[in-house]
Parts: sequence; C-alpha cells; structure tokens
Amino acid sequence: MQTVVLAAGEGTRMRPLTDRRPKPTLPVADRTLVEHVVDGARRAGAERVVVVVGYAADAVRQALDDRDVTFAVQERQRGTADAVRAARDELEDAPFAVLNGDVLYDRDSLAALYDAGPAVGAARVDDPENYGVLETDADGHVRSVVEKPANPTSNLVNAGAYVFPAAARDWLDVGESDRGEYELTDVLERACDAVDVRAVAVERWLDVGRPWELLAATEWKLGDLERRLDGDVHPDADLRGSVVVEDGATVDAGVVIEGPALVRAGASVGPNAYVRGATLLGEGANVGHAVEIKNSVLMAGATVGHLSYVGDSVLGRDVNFGAGTTVANLRHDDAAVRVRVKGESSSTGRRKFGVVCGDAVKTGIDTALNAGVVLGTGARTEPGETVRRDRDRS
Ligand code: TTP
Repeated sequence: MQTVVLAAGEGTRMRPLTDRRPKPTLPVADRTLVEHVVDGARRAGAERVVVVVGYAADAVRQALDDRDVTFAVQERQRGTADAVRAARDELEDAPFAVLNGDVLYDRDSLAALYDAGPAVGAARVDDPENYGVLETDADGHVRSVVEKPANPTSNLVNAGAYVFPAAARDWLDVGESDRGEYELTDVLERACDAVDVRAVAVERWLDVGRPWELLAATEWKLGDLERRLDGDVHPDADLRGSVVVEDGATVDAGVVIEGPALVRAGASVGPNAYVRGATLLGEGANVGHAVEIKNSVLMAGATVGHLSYVGDSVLGRDVNFGAGTTVANLRHDDAAVRVRVKGESSSTGRRKFGVVCGDAVKTGIDTALNAGVVLGTGARTEPGETVRRDRDRS
C-alpha cells in the first residue's frame, strides 16, 4: 500500500534537542526516528512511501538518503491534513496509509492495520481525556472521534495511524480547527461518515514528542538488536547481554556493559567504566575512566570524561561533562520527575529521570545537576555548581 509519512513538523516539545535538527532525525538506537517509521511501514506492507518534509527539510532528506522514498514539501506547518494534502499529487488512485513520522508501532499491529482496509489504529490508555477518543459500534467500526473529551465514553483512542480509501484524496480540504490547524482527524471523521472504518487494536505504540520519550524509544529499539562485537574490545572488558559494539568503536580494560547497549562507530569507553540499562553511545562519544552511565542517550561526540555519573538522561551532540559531574535522577518524595516543556512543568511519568542537555553544553568539574533540569544548547555551568533550575546559554 502507498504510505504517507508526515515529517514536516518542528518538534518544539523536544527542545532543546531539536534546536539544531528536526525531530525525525533524532537518533533512536541504530537509526533515526524517521528511518524507524519508514522501515516499519515497509515491513507492514508499504510498497511506496511518500515522506512529507517541511521544517529543516534537507536534514530529513539526508537521513533517508539510502531509503527508496519520494518526498513532498509542505511549505508551512498548518496541520496534519494539510501535510497529507502536500503529498496528494504523489498519490495514485488507490487506498493509502498515513503515519506520523515520530510514532513507533509494533510490527504485527501495523501489519494488521494495513490488511484491514479503511482503518485507524486504536490503543487502550489510562488517560483517554488526553487523546482523540474513538466511539465504535458493535461491529468495531468507528462512528466518531472526540478530541480530548472531559468525560470519555471509552478508553480506546486514536493511535495516529490510518488507512484511507482512495476517495479520501478528495476529502483533505477540511476547515480550520479551533486551534487553527487543518487536522487529519477531521478527514477521519469524513471517512467514518462515508465508509466503514475499522478500529484496529494497536498493542504497542510510542509517540516520541518529548525528551523522555526518546529514552523510551531507545529502550524499545535497543531491545531489538542482537549482540554483535565488531569493534576493538579489550579482553578484560565484561560485556553482558545484547551489547553491540560497532566497527571502529573501542571498549577498554575494566569496562562492564550490561545490555541492551549500543556503542556506535568511533565511540570509546573506559578504562573502568560501567554502562548499564538501555544506553546509546553515539558516534564518537567518549565515556572515560570511572564513569557510570545508566539508561541514557549520548548523542554523537558527547563526552563524559571521568569520575561522573549520568542516569536516565539525554545528552545532545558534543556535550562535555567536566570531571565529577553528577546527575540526580530520583526525587526524595519518590514522585515522578517533572520537566519543563514549552515553559510548562510536565510530568515525565518516570520515577527515574535525570537531565536533558542540548548540543554543546559544558559543565564545570563537580557540577551537580538536579533531576529534571534542562540545559539549553550551549549552556555552561561553573565548577562546583549545583543546578536546580533550567538554564539557557549563559
Ligand atoms: P506534532 O507532534 O503535532 O508536531 P511536531 O512534530 O512538529 O511536534 P511539536 O508539537 O512538538 O512541535 O505532529 C504530528 C506529526 O505530524 C509529526 O510527525 C509531524 C507531522 N506534522 C506535519 O508533517 N505537518 C504539520 O503541519 C504538523 C502540525 C505536523
């Protein structure tokens, strides 16, 4: 089936990680987020993929340069229906699927969706009031979608994956919604009025919109990797479970890595470092002597040189932690750690969460970073500082 992947958005909730790159190009285990989406679509049965690009379009094109896809351009990000409209000329007169470029699905659910004819992916959640709630009839056909209802009638929600009939190419010119966007859910409503649209159960899905969801995505996709040691691994290193060390990476003596973990080409670990939990060490990242990294993402070129602890955190490109930098990842009251997203405090839903660092952050030696702190791109800390609040470049 032909498939439209929406990847034109800016990813503002993911800032500062998206200050210098669009969200679809963020690393998730061994590839970018949008590569996972395109590859997942292909596995589910997409024989033709049209990727809609807009914000930082060239970076998305580059991320997909070895994938067989066609690009369409959405000049302004005016909503998801508008994004599909940008791809309309690329679509043949046949049913088509639409996937968000930042949502991951399990393989079987997506394949079932593709097989179901007009359909929408439907997930069960505990907080339906935060989603588009699907109202279905006894046959499992969707009757309507109610956006963020105060009193949800069910816990079945729109998981953002669709198969539309060919005729839906003419239904994309919907009116502006209350929030001033052209929404694909309005196209879905039209489809439900015109044809039977099946709600297909989605077992597992992940909308990667906020920084901590990048950790969840990494946990998921690292779990799919099989142990492979192609790099230079010292005989006195102890690599347990599904650990991948790519060709060109170095793991020195005394290092313990508990998988799942991926050490990408050019990265170096140790001596005497401890890496555990689901951890990605990006290309050229450096984890030095007596450093512990737990359940974290270090993007390309990030350096945690020596005597530091990093837990449940996301470090952007070329971040440099001074010796003795310590990340707190647990609150004394055991409540879920909160992070500011677009100026508002949001619960991560995680008891353990550390910090988010934009690209090129540098910490002075012995910096202590409080749980949930966000350091903006290029931010600095003084030696010995305790950082309790978010900080922009200073
Ligand atoms: P969103 O997650 O709503 O938007 P976003 O990715 O830009 O993120 P944020 O809200 O943090 O700024 O969009 C859902 C998907 O649709 C996502 O894959 C981006 C895509 N999209 C477009 O391609 N064009 C658009 O005009 C919009 C609004 C979204």
